[in-house]
Amino acid sequence: MSLRRDPITPALVLYLLATLSCRHAQIPLPSIAKPVPSDAARGETIVRNVAVCGGCHAADPRNDVDGPLSGGTEFQDWRIGTSRAANLTSDAETGLGTWSEAEIVRALRNGQRKDGRLLAPVMPYEWFHEMSDDDAFAVARYLKSLPPVRREVKQSPNLVFKLGKLLFLAPKPSISASAPPRGATPEYGGYLAQHVGLCADCHTPRGGLLATPDKSRLFAGTAHPPKDFPANPSNLTPDNATGIGQWTETDFLQTLRTGVNPKGVSLHPFMPWRQIRRMSDEDLRAIYRYLRTVPPIRNEVPRRGLAR
Ligand code: HEC
Ligand code: HEC
Repeated sequence: MSLRRDPITPALVLYLLATLSCRHAQIPLPSIAKPVPSDAARGETIVRNVAVCGGCHAADPRNDVDGPLSGGTEFQDWRIGTSRAANLTSDAETGLGTWSEAEIVRALRNGQRKDGRLLAPVMPYEWFHEMSDDDAFAVARYLKSLPPVRREVKQSPNLVFKLGKLLFLAPKPSISASAPPRGATPEYGGYLAQHVGLCADCHTPRGGLLATPDKSRLFAGTAHPPKDFPANPSNLTPDNATGIGQWTETDFLQTLRTGVNPKGVSLHPFMPWRQIRRMSDEDLRAIYRYLRTVPPIRNEVPRRGLAR
């Protein structure tokens, strides 16, 4: 007896394979109306002290977050395969040497590579999407000023991610954004905590098939973070019992400056307080004042992982 083969299946597989290499339509490159007040210094502050890009992009994030941003650290997820933090130095062949500032801004906010391919969402463009034009271009300017380090970083997306890109994942739409005026206000703090710093990215639980952030539980913390998190992100909502409802502004500043919370617990270094502590008083106060305004959520997050 001969097995009848379905002629559709091989045709479909061939079709899928042929289209897997398809690229997304390019999001138009962002432009900036007024010249950026040449702000590599602002960019450095964002990259090193606020967003702490080195937590992923440093050559050795475990031991030297502030070191060269030559990338290589691996992230594994069944939905993505293996993605590796890119080399952000200005090396022409293996880094961003040939990228324009606008292309860097697009990667940051829309999740598109120079050639238009979608970046793995490990790169938090979900949150950077609303970073202001001024801040995003300042970041790009700072990256372009980094001395080149040669390090080739390869991406190994799996079939799930390739199919996802083909079928339903897409870059974020293009925008032009401005930041609220700088100052110790909840508005500015909300901007910093969500779109410049990655406080919201780590401290918000994820859910669903795509592990997207559950924005109805913003800052609620989680006992079930992505598996590469060595510690559980705390509840930062103003809930009195399980969040930071009882903390004063001084408690908050002191915790982020010393890495020791009001209960005397030393924070795990995965919480990048050693970098965040370099933020200005004004910026930290803004974040605290913003966090008082988010809805309190009762969510007990047990501590896991020991501080070094
Ligand atoms: C949680 C980890 C993480 C953080 C934090 C992070 N990135 Fe990324 N980033 C990645 C990964 C992983 C990739 C590679 C994704 C891919 O190629 O599919 C990437 C890719 C990029 C790219 C594209 C480069 C290329 O060659 O394709 C740029 C530009 C970039 N990141 C800039 C930044 C900047 C600037 C910051 C901080 C403001 C930052 N990233 C923070 C993980 C991160
Ligand atoms: C890379 C992930 C990550 C980022 C980014 C991050 N945090 Fe955290 N944070 C954590 C983790 C994990 C803990 C818990 C540490 C522990 O259990 O020792 C924590 C703890 C804290 C605590 C202590 C809470 C307590 O109850 O002791 C505060 C306050 C805090 N983070 C504020 C912030 C702020 C503000 C930002 C942004 C400027 C931020 N975090 C960014 C992961 C992160």
